[in-house]
Amino acid sequence: MVADLSSFQSPINAVVLGAGGGIGAALVDALADNPHVAQVLALSRRALPDRRKVQAEIADVTDERSLAAAAARAPETTHLVIVATGMLHAGEHAPEKQLRDLGADRLAYSFAVNAIGPALALKHFTPLMPRQGKAVFAALSARVGSISDNRSGGWYGYRASKAALNMLLRTAAIEIGAKRKDAVILGLHPGTVDTGLSKPFQANVKPEKLFTPAFAAERLLAVIDDATPAQTGTLLAWDGAAIPF
Ligand SMILES: NC(=O)c1ccc[n+]([C@@H]2O[C@H](COP(=O)([O-])OP(=O)(O)OC[C@H]3O[C@@H](n4cnc5c(N)ncnc54)[C@H](OP(=O)(O)O)[C@@H]3O)[C@@H](O)[C@H]2O)c1
Repeated sequence: MVADLSSFQSPINAVVLGAGGGIGAALVDALADNPHVAQVLALSRRALPDRRKVQAEIADVTDERSLAAAAARAPETTHLVIVATGMLHAGEHAPEKQLRDLGADRLAYSFAVNAIGPALALKHFTPLMPRQGKAVFAALSARVGSISDNRSGGWYGYRASKAALNMLLRTAAIEIGAKRKDAVILGLHPGTVDTGLSKPFQANVKPEKLFTPAFAAERLLAVIDDATPAQTGTLLAWDGAAIPF
């Protein structure tokens, strides 16, 4: 099951933010292998090697100047932008289980990485999308950011910042759709994927429900390939199913 990305006019120029992450790296690999893709700009906080079709640059979603500089180095016409950054736990900070775990700095940091960073990526990268023909901006969100689906609680900062991300994507989809009728702005839920982000929380995940990054990347590209402007501003899972906000 390989997404051929034939819904785009090729050759496709793509940008992946968070290219050093588990899913981000797999997305760069899958895009570089795709014959319709001409070039991938792989953005990460750390230096990654250039290779065939892949140009690596440093960028941090928590630093707007670095995003603006990266966008200035992106192809003038960029058909596909995927934000694969995100943070669930960092250093000694585990996700907040209870109200007494909340702290202002920690909450602000979750919002900075999970919501504000992708919003600034929308600001700097969507002007590069073509005015006609398919173009997709997709940010990796999470099912747990769905307010109506929240039945188990916990993970305050992660859930709330992903819910904020979903709203930012929806709002941008309305604005961008006015000028770019063929553009699709999406939140994507990759499933539970075996990466550093999910590592501490994999104990109760059935092996068949724990995806490899390569599988998740192929599924996400297939969802992107199938997506139409009628779906802009929505949150889609790895299997293409719409997740209610
Ligand atoms: N893994 C899962 O089961 C799962 C489930 C649902 C949703 N997701 C979502 O999928 C996306 C990718 O996650 P992943 O599983 O690939 O995780 P990952 O391997 O930890 O990669 C996340 C990447 O986000 C960037 N990042 C993390 N913390 C940051 C910070 N403080 N400041 C700036 N950038 C930061 C880094 O990119 P660089 O190293 O390139 O700078 C990092 O490699 C996230 O949005 C996550 O919420 C994952």
